[in-house]
Amino acid sequence: MNEETGVSTNTTGGGRSLFSGKMGFVLSAAASAIGLGNLWRFPYLAAKYGGGAFLIVYLLLVATFGFALMMAEVGLGRKTRLSTIGAYKSIRKKWAFVGVLASAVPFLITPYYAVIGGWVTKYTVSYFTTPADQIAQSGYFTSFITEVSPETFVYTFIFLAICIAVVAFGVKSGVEKSSKILMPVLIGMSVVITVVGCMQPGAAEGIAYFLIPDFSKISVEMVVAAMGQMFFSLSLAMGIMVTYGSYLRKEDNLEKSVRNIEVFDSLIAILAGFMIIPACFAVTGSGAGVAENAGPSLMFVVLPQIFSQFGPAANFMGAAFFLLVLFAAATSSISLLEACISIVSDGLKCSRGKSIVICSIFMFVVATVVNMGYNVWIGVDPEFVLFGIGQQGDHQILDFLDFLSNTIMMPIVALLTCIFVGWIIKPKAVIEEVEQEGVTMKAKKLFTVMIKYIAPVFTVAILIGYVLMAVGAINL
Ligand code: TRP
Repeated sequence: MNEETGVSTNTTGGGRSLFSGKMGFVLSAAASAIGLGNLWRFPYLAAKYGGGAFLIVYLLLVATFGFALMMAEVGLGRKTRLSTIGAYKSIRKKWAFVGVLASAVPFLITPYYAVIGGWVTKYTVSYFTTPADQIAQSGYFTSFITEVSPETFVYTFIFLAICIAVVAFGVKSGVEKSSKILMPVLIGMSVVITVVGCMQPGAAEGIAYFLIPDFSKISVEMVVAAMGQMFFSLSLAMGIMVTYGSYLRKEDNLEKSVRNIEVFDSLIAILAGFMIIPACFAVTGSGAGVAENAGPSLMFVVLPQIFSQFGPAANFMGAAFFLLVLFAAATSSISLLEACISIVSDGLKCSRGKSIVICSIFMFVVATVVNMGYNVWIGVDPEFVLFGIGQQGDHQILDFLDFLSNTIMMPIVALLTCIFVGWIIKPKAVIEEVEQEGVTMKAKKLFTVMIKYIAPVFTVAILIGYVLMAVGAINL
């Protein structure tokens, strides 16, 4: 095994080291897919956008658009045996810009991912040092992020420093191996927390909210949010899957692997939804205000209340849970960082060491700016609204970076990837890539129709609808 990349050095692919087997790819891609996107982002979006209706739209998108896009990206990678920019460039020089655009996305996501990672670090430490009841008090989270003190910055730095150290000292594969043990433990614990949460008075209403779709809640904004979440959670539209595909062996069944990752990732998101949404209803006493109040802080406000139900075991439960979430967040953040580092070293033709330094400085600076939006800059200018996002007086840079990556850049990259695969190299190229060594692709028709027509038309329509709505031209 190659310690750096965690892949075996089986060289049937033109000298490129390959994943040791189908499970190697599925596990690595799943480790990248499962992270804060499932545990933190999905539940708050589902709570915000109408519960069951959001869930259905999300799953539909994963099974169709997400499937086609992941097939296209992984297929491109395995076909060219190159990472993102090279993969596009080697087929059509003019299309290298899609790879470049995709490569910009991890630079937007990693810094704010680290800020959330810092919040998780703070909660992990708190459960070791502070009585659980105190952490469950209302205002605990808000005062943590809004206080103008070094605290939030320090936690972000600790989280980032851990991730950078893992990358720099080349112990990444060790971390990934341990995540294969810790992930199932995290899932087991989530199930316990879910059961306890769902038994609280008032939780039944939350279960109904999450499961019974109210189709009147479907709106352009909600579908845009579901689409962005689909890209984020499956690590799509940022070139990551092209790179992973380039390490996949020819004899592995690409279609099955993609389906496995999708099912696994969606199950974890649904579990996280069950863990947080019913508890949220129980905590607030009624469903009123759930949609309005659901935001990035949801997980940190709701879960401590459930932990305090565990009595004397509350601190242990909280500490163990956030420690496991920290692990899941760190593995994703490490892969994101790794992606940034290889982009910089390829792009600037510099050494890996130099690239690590450049990326680290960038991440520390941007993460600090993101953090300042919650405290230092709050209320500085009461009229200020950052690009129309957030409330007046807020400088919600985290929401802005999240919006820029998931709602603007990723749909554009996805659209261009669809056009590239659907019309330039043609879906047949990917289908042929899948159908090797006697494998037949089952969803050929779905793939072809999605990638050529439905996905691009849908993306354009939804983006235009969204822009028109944002400027107030229509009301959907
Ligand atoms: N999918 C990850 C999550 O759900 C986040 C993520 C997006 C990611 N892109 C990535 C992780 C690239 C690793 C590599 O949390």
